[in-house]
Amino acid sequence: MIIAIDGPAASGKSTTARGVAHRLGIMYLNTGAMYRALTLGIMESGIDVDNINAVRCFISGTVVEFDNNNQILLNGENVSAKVQSSSISDKVSAVSAVPEIRKAMVQVQRKIAGEKDCVLEGRDIGTVVFPRADFKFFLVADVAIRAARRMKDLQALGESCSLDELIKVILKRDKLDSTRTNSPLVQADDAISIDTTHLTIDETIEKIISKIIKLKNEEKS
Ligand code: DC
Repeated sequence: MIIAIDGPAASGKSTTARGVAHRLGIMYLNTGAMYRALTLGIMESGIDVDNINAVRCFISGTVVEFDNNNQILLNGENVSAKVQSSSISDKVSAVSAVPEIRKAMVQVQRKIAGEKDCVLEGRDIGTVVFPRADFKFFLVADVAIRAARRMKDLQALGESCSLDELIKVILKRDKLDSTRTNSPLVQADDAISIDTTHLTIDETIEKIISKIIKLKNEEKS
């Protein structure tokens, strides 16, 4: 069983997807963390993310994978905490727009999830990675709420940023992600849209689980 959860930046996908996977006792795959890990590696190598040729070359000889605790590894190093920083958020859209980068990551995602029941979250799961996913959801939320959620995450990492600045950054990332040529952020025709603006994480998880149960029951009857 494949469950796809897509949506724009800071719409609550990661926590929701992790919660849904936990409730169902299946695997969870955070595909954004993979693009973030590559971005970190590229930046640490001193490569300008706008230098497409250098970014393309970086992918060969670079291994992005998850360990048994679902931590993201870049060439064997656990970079789970590092990839959440705002310096990575600033640059990740440029890196994830490069076709060779997407091709390599999609291949890894299909290999990991193709063999198991899995909840995957990202931007293109229901449209490109698993267009025949069993269940597809698309999370949306007002940008001010998304910025407030992101601010909490950054504060937990010891970073500070104003709400206005975060709104600008999120809107910029949404624009880049949804206007890129290759696998843009777009809701799949058959995805169920959930507005999480006024929902807690638990309520969002509950909504998704009950939709899945309802759809499964409809299939049976
Ligand atoms: O979900 P996130 O904020 O961690 O994702 C970081 C970036 O990675 C996002 O701005 C676009 C890119 N991304 C993508 O292009 N495709 C995915 N399936 C997941 C993320």
